[in-house]
Amino acid sequence: MDDPKIKKVGVIEGYDQWVKTYDSEDNPLIFLVEENLGELLGAVKGQKIIELGCGTGRNLVQILNLGAQFVLGFDISDGMLARARAKLNPKFSKLLLQDMQSTWPVQDESFDVVLESLALEHLANVDFFFQEAHRVLKPGGKALLFEIHPIFHRQGKAAHYDDENGTKSQLPSFHHSVEDYHQSAIQAGLKLENLWEFNGREQSKSAKLELYKDTPVLISLLLKKDNRNS
Ligand SMILES: C[S@@+](CC[C@H](N)C(=O)[O-])C[C@H]1O[C@@H](n2cnc3c(N)ncnc32)[C@H](O)[C@@H]1O
Repeated sequence: MDDPKIKKVGVIEGYDQWVKTYDSEDNPLIFLVEENLGELLGAVKGQKIIELGCGTGRNLVQILNLGAQFVLGFDISDGMLARARAKLNPKFSKLLLQDMQSTWPVQDESFDVVLESLALEHLANVDFFFQEAHRVLKPGGKALLFEIHPIFHRQGKAAHYDDENGTKSQLPSFHHSVEDYHQSAIQAGLKLENLWEFNGREQSKSAKLELYKDTPVLISLLLKKDNRNS
């Protein structure tokens, strides 16, 4: 039975509210992404990068600081995009109100990297995401994903925030196993290059992360599109 203390909110309504605290709260998953993004992404100098579900733009800011040439972010929450717009230089970035479940308005083979972080749990089916990622990547390009770990999700954890009245608000969240991600990626033509798991013993500025000691909380997948010549 549903917990009456937890309010259910839609994705757009939820993120339009959550944006008020998103960049300041201690959220172990968000912090782990921020702390590991640069290393897992590798060199981005001169590259074109697209992030689906870019939220407040915190990842895109970091990527531009690492030397990327241009970043494009899509999100369905106006509130999150407004925060991102305030942070990013429009000379090197573009932000669009766009549902990633509809055809992405970008040309085939136009990006070096597709980034996605903590947004796929809101999609019932992830096949289309991987198909579009494959389409927009240049040959040899890569996709880097960060998601709530399926084990953590099975324990009842999902995207949520406390609203201004202190009420816990829960967003729609769907379970995806590692195999779900991998199968969708393979069918779209992407190859798994690497996979990382993060648990509560990682070094992090998140004080809350310690609560989860040996529980895998976050998973990251690095996928590659074949180089035509390889
Ligand atoms: C947990 S936030 C992650 C934001 C950012 N990627 C980060 O790592 O901080 C998830 C974001 O995905 C966006 N989102 C959810 N479903 C989406 C969809 N179908 N299309 C585009 N954006 C979506 C939400 O509005 C929200 O900004």
